[in-house]
Amino acid sequence: MSKSQKPSAAEWVPATHDLARLRAAAPACRGCDLYAHATQVVFGEGPQDANVVMVGEQPGDEEDRRGLPFVGPSGRLLSKAMEQAGLDRDKVYVTNAVKHFKFLERGKRRIHAKPSGIEISACRPWLEAELASVEPELIVCLGATAAQSLMGRDFRITVDRGKFFPHHWAKQLLATVHPSAILRMPERYDEEFELFVRDLSLVAQKLESIEAAAKA
Ligand code: URA
Ligand code: SF4
Repeated sequence: MSKSQKPSAAEWVPATHDLARLRAAAPACRGCDLYAHATQVVFGEGPQDANVVMVGEQPGDEEDRRGLPFVGPSGRLLSKAMEQAGLDRDKVYVTNAVKHFKFLERGKRRIHAKPSGIEISACRPWLEAELASVEPELIVCLGATAAQSLMGRDFRITVDRGKFFPHHWAKQLLATVHPSAILRMPERYDEEFELFVRDLSLVAQKLESIEAAAKA
């Protein structure tokens, strides 16, 4: 990448719709500076023929150590909500807008740091390659970072959560809150969890109606 160009993963993303080949290429990415401090790249996980792709923000501490998306506290909350909504996590492809963990060191702890707009757009070629490979019916954005990566910077979760929008990479896209936002509001946990399950139930219902229409 020359200094005059914007940071981008593009030159590290192979021209393929084979997820296994994309995943194999991701550790070499130097599309932005985040690779330098993270333990490893955390690529998406799930079947190539998934009908739903869920997009989070970036790996957290536990994801960074284990190399898998949504396996820490947010991931456990997500799995619980998906189960209640009737979405089978094994059939969903789960990934992140940004593939390396960004953090600040506080003694022994690593505190999540929000990825910048530059990092989000640098990493978008990986997300687009995953979406082009999986060709899902539905995309679910978990939180503002994912929604801004796929819907533009003016998208507001507070205004447009739980609504379907037509999208280039799927029939429809729905955005909802990030599960970590629910974990940060212990005093409102029950209400917020219920709203989250409600949004994911809309996705389960939409998927059913798409599948029923395809069979008819
Ligand atoms: N938060 C995310 O956005 N993604 C993960 O994989 C874990 C936590
Ligand atoms: Fe590449 Fe994305 Fe990692 Fe940046 S965050 S180095 S663009 S994979």
